[in-house]
Amino acid sequence: MRKRDAIIGTFALGLAACGSNPNSPGVEYMPDMYRSPAVEAYVDYGQDPYYFTEEKAAEQRERMSARKPVNGTIPFSMDADKAQFNMPYPYPNTPEGYEAAGAQLTSPIAMTQATVDQGKVIYDKFCQHCHGATGQGDGPVVNNGGYPPPGAYNGPLKDLPEGKIFHSLTYGRNVAMGSHASQLNKEERWLVTHYVKYLQNGGKLQREPMADAGAATTN
Ligand code: HEC
Repeated sequence: MRKRDAIIGTFALGLAACGSNPNSPGVEYMPDMYRSPAVEAYVDYGQDPYYFTEEKAAEQRERMSARKPVNGTIPFSMDADKAQFNMPYPYPNTPEGYEAAGAQLTSPIAMTQATVDQGKVIYDKFCQHCHGATGQGDGPVVNNGGYPPPGAYNGPLKDLPEGKIFHSLTYGRNVAMGSHASQLNKEERWLVTHYVKYLQNGGKLQREPMADAGAATTN
């Protein structure tokens, strides 16, 4: 008799656990086993039905979960060649920082046809719509949108040093050119800088020695 009661009891409990809502987890026996107390990134604990009192929810909302890395945190890279790209950028976003980058900063990547080609892939995706396919400042955004045309790379920007190119990519330049630091990592910014230099040089890897520089100054 006691055994039969136990079977019926278990059966009734089983039924009670099922609801008409297929999304409902049913009766939760010891809910703290279902809802982990571990604070998880991106979970809005203020919405969690387990903390159903407003007081509890408000307290949970105040609790920090996903945190920003501490200032100065440097990501780790197994590849020693790439590790340098994780170092903080030392030049501030000021006119002095711009000049210092222009005078001191040089690319850590060799300028070869291969790196120029990699830079072109980035340029075609992120830059040519403003700067134009050959860097003349005549991209479709400028031509169709009345956007202010940037100077031609082989014209007014011909002598812009690579440190300034990189600096402007990092912080943006005046109002018309935005920062590309969130779209392109440092390695990508150097690669596209190589392509800009290539366009500055009129589609050559190295600039020709200035043979007629002397002649130009005499007239
Ligand atoms: C939304 C249009 C736009 C895009 C996209 C854009 N630029 Fe520019 N860029 C400009 C304009 C406009 C200027 C001129 C800013 C000024 O001097 O006021 C400029 C300036 C520059 C300069 C000169 C900076 C200096 O120090 O004088 C360089 C180099 C440059 N851009 C490279 C790039 C590269 C490389 C990309 C792609 C990663 C890019 N730009 C994407 C519009 C753009």
